[in-house]
Amino acid sequence: MSPKISRCLFPAAGLGTRFLPVTKEIAKEMLPLVNRPIISYGVEEAVNSGCNDIVIITGRTKRSIEDYFDRSFELENLLKSKGSIKLYEIIHAIASMANFMYVRQPEPLGLGHAVLCGEPICRDSYFGVILPDDVIKAESPALSQLIRVHEKLGGSVIALEEVPRSEVSRYGIVDADVFDETEGIYKIRDMVEKPSVHESPSRLAIIGRYILSPKIFKILSDTEAGIGGELQLTDALRRLLQEEPVWGVIYKGERFDCGTQDGWFAANVKLAMETPELRRIVIEAVKNFF
Ligand code: UTP
Repeated sequence: MSPKISRCLFPAAGLGTRFLPVTKEIAKEMLPLVNRPIISYGVEEAVNSGCNDIVIITGRTKRSIEDYFDRSFELENLLKSKGSIKLYEIIHAIASMANFMYVRQPEPLGLGHAVLCGEPICRDSYFGVILPDDVIKAESPALSQLIRVHEKLGGSVIALEEVPRSEVSRYGIVDADVFDETEGIYKIRDMVEKPSVHESPSRLAIIGRYILSPKIFKILSDTEAGIGGELQLTDALRRLLQEEPVWGVIYKGERFDCGTQDGWFAANVKLAMETPELRRIVIEAVKNFF
């Protein structure tokens, strides 16, 4: 049996240009989603999937991510001395939930390059990858659904979602054979980054959750920059397919795309509507517009 997946890598060094100007000096991953930073949803998902080691790839303007997941003695002592025990426990739990490690990506050279930056920490065994922009609400944490497929079949695993044909050009799309229809598992044959509607081999889009083989590092370091001069993870995954099986699984859950301003805004409203104490406030705020 393959060793347990205990490490999860979070690429978080992108420039976040779709969020400018706010991301000029503020990390996109730290924008609030209701009452917590976007990235904290992914970190909790990884922890709830059994990962104790959280590896975050950071860059300029991302220091607040490290501070958020670190202890804050002054704040904790202040809350305790004021008797705000519930708040103290919430703050204390953030830094205690996992071992946090950080690697700087000196230049945003692409998602593939960000993953490659994790090599010194992740090179010994299969590891998880979560793109923090994709927040997934699920009964069983999305990453754990991929881990189950890896434990059953071995190899690398990618999360898939069926998207409308009109949206295929926003995603990496796979060409795949059904392996287990009931479980939504596919054997990937090939994949293409952001195809046109006519070129797209399917409607199965790659979503920001992966279980990757450590072999990916050697492949990434031998891969040339692709679209936009960036080192593309999809290009390296295509080459990995020639060395070992790569599975796709249609995850069960609801995804909130927080990588764009529209998606982030909609996610805030939807999640607030699902939070009993905020639902009334949202309805009250908008009722006069209808
Ligand atoms: P995106 O494609 O969303 O890029 O990256 P971005 O820079 O965050 O945002 P835009 O497109 O400029 O608006 C997907 C994930 O990969 C990380 C990002 O932080 C995000 O989590 N990434 C991307 C890196 O860590 N380094 C890179 O060089 C590129």
